[in-house]
Amino acid sequence: MSSWPNVRADFPVLHQQVNGKPLIYLDNAATAQKPRCVIDALVHYYERDNSNVHRGLHALSMRATDAYEGARTRLAKFINAAEPAEIIFTRGTTESINLVAHSFGARLRPGDVILATEMEHHSNLVPWQQIAKSTGATLRYVPVLGVNAEGGLDLTALDTLLTPQVKIFAFTHISNSLGAINPVRELCRRARAVGAVSVVDAAQSIGHGPFDVREIGADFVAFSGHKMCGPTGIGVLYGRSELLNTLGPDETGGGMVSSVDFEGARWKPAPERFEAGTPNIADAIALAKACDYLDGLDRAEIARHDNHLAGLAYEKLSVLPGIRLLGPTGARSGLVSFSFADVHAHDIVTFADEDGIALRGGHHCNQPLMRKLGLTGTTRASFYVYNREEEIDALVASMRRILKFFGAT
Ligand code: ALA
Repeated sequence: MSSWPNVRADFPVLHQQVNGKPLIYLDNAATAQKPRCVIDALVHYYERDNSNVHRGLHALSMRATDAYEGARTRLAKFINAAEPAEIIFTRGTTESINLVAHSFGARLRPGDVILATEMEHHSNLVPWQQIAKSTGATLRYVPVLGVNAEGGLDLTALDTLLTPQVKIFAFTHISNSLGAINPVRELCRRARAVGAVSVVDAAQSIGHGPFDVREIGADFVAFSGHKMCGPTGIGVLYGRSELLNTLGPDETGGGMVSSVDFEGARWKPAPERFEAGTPNIADAIALAKACDYLDGLDRAEIARHDNHLAGLAYEKLSVLPGIRLLGPTGARSGLVSFSFADVHAHDIVTFADEDGIALRGGHHCNQPLMRKLGLTGTTRASFYVYNREEEIDALVASMRRILKFFGAT
């Protein structure tokens, strides 16, 4: 991967020492670092344009409105939505999925089925559990295969699970704890074939490769800005406009109504219908900058880079004594998740921090999956555009130091 550009100069936060060592940031699945252009967009907005959007007729309000709606158009282009109105700004993946669960899910009746998978993050699992409880619908899961989930999703189980009773099929594109890449296009196609709507959790994939909602054929897609070089507190729910405009709002208030009287209110169409109150203007604008940044690098190349690093890490870690590597052995996304029988993931992360390495340890909001695999958690290293091969050698050396300390070598 020698042709990959060195983008580290774009990320101010990387240029620091942690515990006397140069920072090696391998916690990108939790949140990615921000390039200077995204930080500058936030500063520029607050220094020059800050104002409320949509209802103002003065210069700053019009500038803010243009920039905010311009961000919506940019996000639509980023995922190839048919129109900007299909982009709803939310706080992030969790809020996006909750919005679908509350508005679309509320239509469910006893006998209806929500299908999810065993590898879902809690954000694409707990909202469906809640909706199933409140509507009387049944929640079922597509199982994962193998003691280390190395077989990914059991697609053959879809033949029996994906019945006409399924009204919603919710699944992740990339597993945040396994690195498995699910065949989203096929899953959306199969959902449509039984009349179910597809809900794709793209939190771990959106910033790591091309993502075309129309080519995939998704009905709803949820993602967060902060995992794709954007700010925290901003994300997107994409929904096909025919679907969105049949849904009621999740939140009500100002900005989303066409008219109100003392008896009731009427809703604006999407996207305003789903954006009650003052939106997160600055972060939406900065998220559009993150789209520019990622497209400037070429998203297919980003996927190659991240997946290459994860594959290399998988290979180099696999020789460590007693290591248990989770997820597919072949094609995998830009993260690697592992455990050792005698060393807790939190100890590993704490020791690695002494070496300046930022990892994540725990259940990664996948408690049911961890239980199924007989684990309390794993250690996860996740890679992004600024990571380098030599950082993997530092990771492996750090793991060796930890194993030696615990007498596990
Ligand atoms: N969902 C984020 C993760 O996987 C926080 O770490």
